[in-house]
Amino acid sequence: MTRKKKAPEPPVKVLVVGDAHIEPGQRFDRFRWLGRHIVETKPDHIVLIGDWVSMNSLSSFDKKGGTQLENMRVPLDAELGRVALNIIQEEAGRWPIHFVEGNHEYRIKRWWENDAQMEGLCDLADMYDGYIDSYTTYGDYLWINEIGFTHIPFNKVGPIASSGFTTSIAQKVSILAGKSIFFGHSHILDIGRQRRLGSVEPIYAVNVGCFIPPEFDPAYSHNRLNDWWRGVVMVEIMPDATFDISTLSLKRMEQLYE
Ligand SMILES: [Fe+2]
Ligand SMILES: [Fe+2]
Repeated sequence: MTRKKKAPEPPVKVLVVGDAHIEPGQRFDRFRWLGRHIVETKPDHIVLIGDWVSMNSLSSFDKKGGTQLENMRVPLDAELGRVALNIIQEEAGRWPIHFVEGNHEYRIKRWWENDAQMEGLCDLADMYDGYIDSYTTYGDYLWINEIGFTHIPFNKVGPIASSGFTTSIAQKVSILAGKSIFFGHSHILDIGRQRRLGSVEPIYAVNVGCFIPPEFDPAYSHNRLNDWWRGVVMVEIMPDATFDISTLSLKRMEQLYE
């Protein structure tokens, strides 16, 4: 008599979408491809890692101040993010989508701080209600099976930045992290890793690239070294919190789903 082996617990599939930087004038077909990819791969969770919308109308809030004329464009900038979510929902139906706030969405909160009359206007957690299952504020972490998801990890002084050409941000993050982390912000694809003294499992920090269309070159990227990677990252997390990673470039998505 053969005894049936218990089926192993399947991994939890998380599809991570990097900075989409939705702005007026962009093509939105990448969200249709994303919806089709979701239908095909059936992830358990989808994580939008932040900078979903660029909120260029509030670009002055990276400094301080702002103009009344620009403020009129704020609802449109925010609405474009809802339009993209709607395209995904039209293609894939309702899916567990987790929204992680990036520095570009955080501009809205600085806008509120600067002008009390604006408080609560263009609250993305409200505007995107019906499309998203959770909203993680800037600097915080969404945890799925012991793996952290955040836009950009913070140290004591602020968001972790690379130091010149020698240290990758991912490597820096892995050194500071207590658990493995997936993050966006720098628009590059990279993996840092480190092993804590006395621990068995290494800690990984995965920089997931971005979801910006290749023909689109945002104003703030001019004259910068551009080694951005465009696509999505699937992470399959095992019950012991180890994981497998696979990537799908935007270029390949277009071939598969257009
Ligand atoms: Fe970004
Ligand atoms: Fe960012």
